[in-house]
Amino acid sequence: MKSFFDRFLPGGYVCAHRGARSIAPENTHMALDKARQCGADLWEIDIQLSADGELVVFHDRTLDRTTDVATRPEFSKRHPWNVTEFTYDELQRLDAGSWFLQSDPFGTIVSGEVSAADFSVIRQQKIPLLRDVLHECHQYDFPVNIEIKDQTGNPADRRIVKKVLDLIKATNTGHLVLLSSFNHHYLRQVKQINPEIETAALVENSHPENLLDYLSELDVAAYHPDAQITDRRLINEVIAAGVRVNLWTVNEVTKAQDFINAGATFICTDWPQRLVGVGHCA
Ligand code: G3P
Ligand code: MG
Repeated sequence: MKSFFDRFLPGGYVCAHRGARSIAPENTHMALDKARQCGADLWEIDIQLSADGELVVFHDRTLDRTTDVATRPEFSKRHPWNVTEFTYDELQRLDAGSWFLQSDPFGTIVSGEVSAADFSVIRQQKIPLLRDVLHECHQYDFPVNIEIKDQTGNPADRRIVKKVLDLIKATNTGHLVLLSSFNHHYLRQVKQINPEIETAALVENSHPENLLDYLSELDVAAYHPDAQITDRRLINEVIAAGVRVNLWTVNEVTKAQDFINAGATFICTDWPQRLVGVGHCA
């Protein structure tokens, strides 16, 4: 089987973080379309498990920031609206786009970068099923970094990895998928079930002790540290040990260029429409 990283030659690539989330509602089909259209090389999404066992594309633990759940009388008693306590049928009834017009999280509505012609598409966005997203990635041959959100404390914790791997198999997308997580137990589970699927270890505040041994033991293809705790020396060390380095979240062109020059395979950005072109520099 071809692997995720086979297509990524030296030179650097742009990953659309939660899709092109500065010009479309994050983690939606529209965010995928915009990422492709603006020339991103791949996209990153977050996934969780609904109460009835469907894999859905969604970032937060709760639904209130990026859907209209708080305004829906039928869900008023479900506060704080945990994603994993809603069935897929309930999640489908939510509007996952209009918040973007109301909050204008990146100022792109006010600036006019998002054109009025897009507003009706934005209002139509729903929480996607991972299955549908994988079909789209397959259709367009567009790679995806799937971040499995930490489900510790939820029943989903024991089931989510197997479900993801079953879906990758059913959709024949193993070569298009990189699985990452802050919960490194999930990465071990992936390797136990299907060693051919490539994985990446996410870290946020600090690097694990004995980093190179740790990554080797995890058997990951890539290391995904927060860009804020990463420098050229670290990138060089990890790459020399045979592990790719990809950074998040990088929104400035000069920083993206620096990381790519240092050897990062891809940088994850909220602004793919501005950063495309920084890669392929080797
Ligand atoms: O995968 C990188 C990045 O997405 C991790 O943080 O909170 O944006 O999912 P977050
Ligand atoms: Mg993420």
